[in-house]
Amino acid sequence: MAVERTLSIIKPDAVAKNVVGEILSRFEKAGLRVVAAKMVQLSEREAGGFYAEHKARPFFKDLVSFMTSGPVLVQVLEGEGAIAKNRELMGATNPKDAAAGTIRADFAVSIDENAVHGSDSEASAAREISYFFAATEVCERIR
Ligand code: PPS
Repeated sequence: MAVERTLSIIKPDAVAKNVVGEILSRFEKAGLRVVAAKMVQLSEREAGGFYAEHKARPFFKDLVSFMTSGPVLVQVLEGEGAIAKNRELMGATNPKDAAAGTIRADFAVSIDENAVHGSDSEASAAREISYFFAATEVCERIR
């Protein structure tokens, strides 16, 4: 399987619950490696730009409001099949549908506040990583 990079965000609800370490630990135990990370307070412009593809959706305003309600931990995860692996660890978008043992099943309460974000394709991963990180801020593969 190819080594990939994916963008992960630990959202304000999970940061407020102080479960950042537990979530990172799940990534590491699954073979993913954090190769870039920063804690940021997103502005409305930054959050709106990140979720621009959802601009016409009814939940857009609430999504931006939630994502700017507190700090988030943005990371680049690297590993074999990292995009799909991260999505599997996260669980379904709506925590009510998320499989037992996934991050959203364990730490999220609703679709509006669902603990984590993960890129859904190679194209999204490339766009999302470059949205938050300069190339020089992402470490070379650590062996
Ligand atoms: S969908 O509905 O399946 O197309 O959703 P998706 O494209 O996977 O992601 C939508 C992102 O918006 C967040 N969000 C919501 N989605 C659906 N309904 C409601 N009410 C809602 N509120 C917020 C959802 O968590 C997705 O964000 P990310 O950060 O990508 O997980």
